[in-house]
Amino acid sequence: MKGGFILHNDIPDLPMNNGHQIPQLGLGVFQVDNAEDTKNAIKWALAAGYRHIDTAAYYGNEQWVGEAIRESDVPRDQIFVTSKLWNSVRGYDETQAAFQETLDKLGLDYLDLYLIHWPAPGYLDSWRAMEDLYKAGKIKNIGVSNFNQTQMADILAHGTVKPVVDQIETHPYFQQNDMHAYLESQGILHEAWSPLGGGNNNALTDSVINELAAAHDVSAAQIILRWHVQREEVVIPKSIHEARIQQNRDIFAFGLDEDEMKAISDLDTGKRVGPDPDDTAWLKKSQTYSGRK
Ligand code: A2P
Repeated sequence: MKGGFILHNDIPDLPMNNGHQIPQLGLGVFQVDNAEDTKNAIKWALAAGYRHIDTAAYYGNEQWVGEAIRESDVPRDQIFVTSKLWNSVRGYDETQAAFQETLDKLGLDYLDLYLIHWPAPGYLDSWRAMEDLYKAGKIKNIGVSNFNQTQMADILAHGTVKPVVDQIETHPYFQQNDMHAYLESQGILHEAWSPLGGGNNNALTDSVINELAAAHDVSAAQIILRWHVQREEVVIPKSIHEARIQQNRDIFAFGLDEDEMKAISDLDTGKRVGPDPDDTAWLKKSQTYSGRK
């Protein structure tokens, strides 16, 4: 990839349905389990121009995320911070208390985005609590994660605030095309978790992706992330390595044409890496998990 100094404002903001904006690229910190890695990753990301960090209560690293933000030179109001309510917390008061705990761990006095992490039973009560926190200005935007169409329709039917995003597993081997069209029709942004395919079952070694990478003189990860952003998704690739963090950010100076986009679209296998939001047994079981650590 050709070099050149990259300014942070090269990362586009996407408009959300409430008139606010979200940086299209953020740093994900799932499975970053220690202070050093978390703080380094955020330091490198902010230096590379990222202005969006995606964490969750479940990840067990909110405290280090907060420390990294405080130790940076970037003003708080220029960083878009997302966290998520874990599945074990349901009920109006419990949700508001968990939100406060997240703020305390992060050392922040508001969140940019708070998501219901999974559609585990009782999510409507949690949504009501989040709507009130949103109306009180403690959360700038509220949304959900891992909600399928039925669960999203439930929120839309019973809520008074429309979710701004649905953060769902999405990568070249699991493209979520139906969900993508549904979210678009509802004016809800599609945010992709595990955009690179996560873990072993990923597309980074795929021959089609690697041929495109060679043709564009970029990496396989950059091709995949570019495909996501051209689909108007928000992406939050995770890495704890400085060079990869920089590389993943450097995806706005080239483009994939229609045939190249189609070649990646043809790779869909329909197979998830993570749990299925339709798996009610898993959703219930997950309510007994208290978090990583
Ligand atoms: P690491 O943190 O060691 O860099 P996803 O966000 O799709 O779940 O993907 C995350 C996985 O991909 C992690 O294992 C991460 O490992 C790895 N990864 C992130 N960026 C890159 C990259 N540019 N090239 C190769 N692997 C990457």
